[in-house]
Amino acid sequence: MKTTQLTVTERLVETIDADLLIYCVAEEKDKAPLCDHFIERPVKKAFDLEDFSGKTEEQLMFYPTSVNTEKAIRAQRVLVMGMGKIKKEKDLSEVCDILRKIGGNMAKVCEKIKAKTITLCLPVIQSLDPEKTAECFAEGILLGDYQFLKYKKTTKKKNDYTGLKRVRFACTTAVNSIRKGAKKGVAAARAACEARDMANEPGNGWTSKEFADYAKALAQTHGLTYTCLEKKDMKKLGMGGILAVNQGSAVPPRMVILEYKPEKKSDTILLVGKGLTFDSGGISIKPSSGMEEMKYDMCGGAAVLATMQAVGEEKSSVGVVAIIPATDNMSGSAAVRPGDIIRHFNGVTSEIVNTDAEGRLILADALAYGIKTFKPDCVVDIATLTGAVVVGLGHHYSGLMSNNDKLSDRLVCAGEDAGEPIWRLPLTKAYKKQIESKVADIKNVGDRWGGAITASAYLSNFVDKTPWAHLDIAGTAWDFTEKSYIPKGPSGIGVRTFLNLIRYWKKGALK
Ligand code: BES
Ligand code: MN
Ligand code: ZN
Repeated sequence: MKTTQLTVTERLVETIDADLLIYCVAEEKDKAPLCDHFIERPVKKAFDLEDFSGKTEEQLMFYPTSVNTEKAIRAQRVLVMGMGKIKKEKDLSEVCDILRKIGGNMAKVCEKIKAKTITLCLPVIQSLDPEKTAECFAEGILLGDYQFLKYKKTTKKKNDYTGLKRVRFACTTAVNSIRKGAKKGVAAARAACEARDMANEPGNGWTSKEFADYAKALAQTHGLTYTCLEKKDMKKLGMGGILAVNQGSAVPPRMVILEYKPEKKSDTILLVGKGLTFDSGGISIKPSSGMEEMKYDMCGGAAVLATMQAVGEEKSSVGVVAIIPATDNMSGSAAVRPGDIIRHFNGVTSEIVNTDAEGRLILADALAYGIKTFKPDCVVDIATLTGAVVVGLGHHYSGLMSNNDKLSDRLVCAGEDAGEPIWRLPLTKAYKKQIESKVADIKNVGDRWGGAITASAYLSNFVDKTPWAHLDIAGTAWDFTEKSYIPKGPSGIGVRTFLNLIRYWKKGALK
């Protein structure tokens, strides 16, 4: 992946060479936006002409000469972006998302004018500390700058834009806090972009092997512990779920595990991500229209793996274990059949009524194995699990089901702060009843109703009493709410939510 350099500088902005120098200004009541003296004249002029008043999405671009500015600015172009009225009463996470969106819009302008180097004169936001301000702008710019060009080899032209090379944040105060915030934002955005890269890979470019290879490389770079359970290990361990799903496939399954242990003794969070590298539905085959999108069925696994990259980089204070059960779901001659009965790692037997409800089967083994092996203080799984959650919540919220109110609250907050909203759905006995089987302990589908919840009811059989939460990202992993910093295609959702959960874990753990 391309890495954009982001640095924080105290140098005077007028002395910095760049393709673009950016200022952000807030909208004022009946007067021109307050701004730096360098841009005062053009901004006032534009305001008087009623071209620009600092509203959100309003932009003013000009080309500095010593005539229209106080002194010559060395940058090629100057962009003044409106921030609207960021009022004190606005919710903090709302303010954060406004800044990310402004950052995303900056990246869009850069793409249009092919700017590779930019300097952002970091604004002071009254309601937000400088650290968070820098973090949000860094995230917005880098997430908005994302492109996936790996396979565009023959149609690519020489002067096609390939994104930002260098971003500078210019500031005069609070440099250290701004550096800290920028670093956090960069780590989070890079991790989310890695998750997008994995998701953008097609089914023949990203298999269980690529998951394993990526994890192994991360382990080497960041000193994490890497384990990969191969098919023979799964057989020995009795992981009947992932084995069943893999039966129709030509590529062996893998259970990829990464462990991060902090220096000081601490809680352990277990993250489990569905790594279904292509979901054809198996024998209960999916309709052909839109089936290509099922290469995204590994977005949960991608989110978990990418999170570990940031965890390794910033040496989190809490322990994190990541497990990715990885396979595709195909319909080869040995494929699992509707009606087959399997036995999961923890001994629970399951009647496979529909081979397309495969995600829960691979997650079940991963959850039970992870909990038994690592004895985590809590476990969160993330999966593109059901079409039903998309019917219920659309593309704007991920669904959450959980056996623990505190963990749920923390995840909802973590998601809100990341601009990745989460809505909790009920998970009670009545739903668990819907998946009772006549011939096995449980069956893998209920009736039509409450499909997202009955899927989580299935998973609840594999977590015992461990505080557990399940995130269904089928509606948000791609085609997520349109925002300037979220591209069409995979969103990288989950990564920044998890990072929030991990970064602030100690401030209010479950107990
Ligand atoms: N990967 C799909 C869920 C999905 C559907 C994700 C659409 C994103 C968009 C999952 O494996 C699946 O096929 N679920 C079935 C379950 C059903 C058979 C009970 C579904 O939702 O249709
Ligand atoms: Mn499926
Ligand atoms: Zn699936």
